[in-house]
Amino acid sequence: MKGIILAGGKGTRLYPMTKCISKQLLPIYDKPLIYYPLSILLLTGIREVLIISTPEDTPMYEQLLGNGKKIGISIEYKVQMTPRGLADAFIVGEDFIGDDNVCLILGDNVFFGQNLSSTLWKAAERTKGATIFGYPVKNAQAFGVVEFDDQGRVLSIEEKPEHPKSNYAVPGLYFYDNRVVDIAKNVKPSARGEIEITSVNNVYLEMGELHVELLGRGIAWLDTGSPDGLLKAAEFVEAIQSRQGFYISCIEEIAWRRHFITTEELLAIGEELKMTDYGQYLIDLAKTDQR
Ligand code: DAU
Repeated sequence: MKGIILAGGKGTRLYPMTKCISKQLLPIYDKPLIYYPLSILLLTGIREVLIISTPEDTPMYEQLLGNGKKIGISIEYKVQMTPRGLADAFIVGEDFIGDDNVCLILGDNVFFGQNLSSTLWKAAERTKGATIFGYPVKNAQAFGVVEFDDQGRVLSIEEKPEHPKSNYAVPGLYFYDNRVVDIAKNVKPSARGEIEITSVNNVYLEMGELHVELLGRGIAWLDTGSPDGLLKAAEFVEAIQSRQGFYISCIEEIAWRRHFITTEELLAIGEELKMTDYGQYLIDLAKTDQR
């Protein structure tokens, strides 16, 4: 399975912060926002990643993450000329996807919680159809919203409905079989002029091949769409990290625990960053050598 991070867009809701820097490069406490979705792909076991961003911002992601070799993965980059919609990821990423199944994560989505990895593995193991998630929120009208019947079967998915039929939002994490490329190509633009991921999900729903897994209240799906959301997400990460001593979404740690890199390689990255707590954390992990 391949992984795509969609990290473009204009970030207008965060102006002036994002006037000359991509939203997904803003910090969430001690690391750039894009580390968080990248860590989700790594936890899923995905080692071939495509990052899609704007013509201006793509070079900055390349500077930050390079070809991924340092953390034992491969990262490619592709430019999205205009923010045409989330489903465009599969059209821009067609060559990269090839004959594989694909996981799409939005560059501004932050997840954390117990048993998240097993939920991700389960979704990645499914070779046919699509898997999306449902997460209870108070402001469902700001998201894709999924409605269920009494038996838990999906009845509908709507994009930012004025009157949501449930309080279950669809987070920006999606698993698809290879048919998604053709499906995305045939999606008609919505009223706001975008080719919506919700339209793609509706095609799978109509085919009877859409699986929706509910993420429980033990999982945090954090909002990064406003200055308040960014601050709260940073405070959340700081609180967990300082209490537990374990870092959230430390991509080098995950790569090491997943055996993508050796302890010596982890130590070398730590040494480069040793002037920071982040670097010291990597050095300490390498010294314990217990993964
Ligand atoms: O976060 C989950 C929500 O994400 C879902 O519940 C919605 O169904 C889905 O449409 C999406 O809604 P948003 O309003 O949050 O999408 P937004 O337009 O803000 O884009 C999400 C990220 O993707 C953002 O970081 C910018 C990037 N993006 C967006 C578009 C439309 C691109 O890179 N290219 C694009 O063409």
